[in-house]
Amino acid sequence: MREIFRIKGSGGKKSLSGVIEVNGAKNAVLQAFASTILFKDKVVIKNVPEIEDVKRMVDLLRTMGGEVEKVGNRTYSVCFKKKPGSEISEDISKKLRASIVLTGPLLARNGEVFFPHPGGCVIGARPIDLFVDGFSKLGAKVNFNKGKYEIFADNGKLRGSEIFMKNQSVTGTQTLMMAGVLAKGKTVIKNVALEPETKHLADFLNSCGAKIKGAGTSTIEVVGTGLLSANGKFYNTPPDRIEAGSFLILGALCAKNLLIKNCDPTWIESLINELSASGLKMKIGKSSIKIIDNDRIPNKIFKSANIKTHEYPGFPTDLQAPMVVFLTQVSGESFIFETIFEGRLNYAEELKRMGADIRVWDPHRATVKGPTCFRGREMESPDIRAGLAFLLAAIIAEGESIIHNVYYIDRGYEKIEERLRDIGVDIKRDNLKD
Ligand code: EPZ
Repeated sequence: MREIFRIKGSGGKKSLSGVIEVNGAKNAVLQAFASTILFKDKVVIKNVPEIEDVKRMVDLLRTMGGEVEKVGNRTYSVCFKKKPGSEISEDISKKLRASIVLTGPLLARNGEVFFPHPGGCVIGARPIDLFVDGFSKLGAKVNFNKGKYEIFADNGKLRGSEIFMKNQSVTGTQTLMMAGVLAKGKTVIKNVALEPETKHLADFLNSCGAKIKGAGTSTIEVVGTGLLSANGKFYNTPPDRIEAGSFLILGALCAKNLLIKNCDPTWIESLINELSASGLKMKIGKSSIKIIDNDRIPNKIFKSANIKTHEYPGFPTDLQAPMVVFLTQVSGESFIFETIFEGRLNYAEELKRMGADIRVWDPHRATVKGPTCFRGREMESPDIRAGLAFLLAAIIAEGESIIHNVYYIDRGYEKIEERLRDIGVDIKRDNLKD
C-alpha cells in the first residue's frame, strides 16, 4: 500500500482563508531527544510535533535502552537511568540524518560510539568530516570499518579542546556542544552555526546544570560537568520556523486572508523581508503573521527576487524550494543561489513539467521567469522540503495532481493535509494498491 496526496488545484485563485497553527520544530526537538542521553534522570519534552522523524528518533532511543513514553498530548518523557547502548541502529539511522546528533552525547557518556554514515534527505553528499574532526580534537580515536564508524574516547573520557569548524554545520555545532558537556575540562568551538534552535537547547541544558556560554554567537564554550539532572524541568519545543515560512509562502501564493499562529516571526526575518520587498502585505504579531486582503493583489504584481541561501540568519536553504514556487508566479526574472547544498535544485525538473520556466545553470544556481501557469500532474517528492514545494505547486495548478512518497512530507509536517483542508485546500490522502 503506498500513500499519496490527491490535490485539486485552485488554478491560481487566491481563495484560501482561516487559521493555520505552527507545530513544534523538527530541527529542535530531534536534538532535544538526543540530549536526554546527557541526563541521569527523566527528561520531559513538550510541544512535540507528531511527525515521522520523531517516531524514528524515539525508536532509536529505545534501541539504546532509553525508557521513552508518551505521557500526554505532544509530551514525551525519556530516561536513561542506566548507561545507554553505544550502537546507533543502521536501519533507523539510514532514514534520519538527525541520528548523527546522538554521537556526541553517546561518545561523551559511554566513551565509545558505533554508527553508520547517516541517511536522510538526498540533497547533497552530506559529509560528516566536521564531526569526526571534532571528536578527534576531543581526544577520540576514529576507525571506519565495513561502512561503520567506531569511535573511542581516550581512556574512556573526552578531553576538552579548541575546535575551529571550517563549515558552519547546524548538527555539527549541536553535537560537539553536547559532547563538551561531559568532556573533562573546557571545550571551545569556533565558527559555529547560529541557528536559534542551538541557543534554545543550550539554555535548557544550562537550566539542568550544564555550563555552556556563547550559544547564539560564533564561539561556544562548554565547561564539562557530570551527568545533568532535569529535576522536573521540561524542554518546551520552540515553533518550527521552516513550517511557519512554508505556510507564509502558501499564504502569499493563494490565500485571501490567512492567520499563521504559534510562530516566532523574528526567526524568519529573511523570508519576511523578501516577501515584503516583493509586495506581500503582512501584519506581524509577537507570535503570529497575518495576511489580509491578499486576493486584491494578483501574484503577477509581486516583484521578482534574487535569493541567496545562507546560514542563519540568512535565507534558509529549507525554504528555497517553496520560495521558488512563489517566484514562478511573480513577474520578471529571479535568480537563485543555493550556497548550502549541492543537490537542492533537483526538484526544478518536476516543476518545469508542471509549466515553470526555470533554468538550472549548475548545482547551485538557477533563474526563474514568471508568471507561468501550472498544470496538475503526478510527482514524486524527493525530500521533505521539495515535497512541500510540490504541494504548493499542486495547490496553485489547474486540475488534479498526485504526489507520491508522502512519507517524506510526513517526516517534517504533521497531518499536513488536515491543516491545509481546514483553510480550503482540496486535498486528500489516498492509498495506491501496489
Ligand atoms: C541541518 O542539517 C538541518 N537538519 C537541515 O534541515 C538544514 O537544511 C541544514 O541544517 C542547514 O540549515 C537538522 O537540523 C536535523 P549542516 P545538517 O551540517 O546539520 C556541510 C530539513 O529539511 N557539512 O548545517 O545536516 C554540508 O554538506 C533538513 O529539515 C560538511 O561539510 O546541515 C552543508 O554543505 C534538511 N561537513 C553545510 O555543511 C560536515 O561534517 C551545512 O550542513 C557537516 C556538514
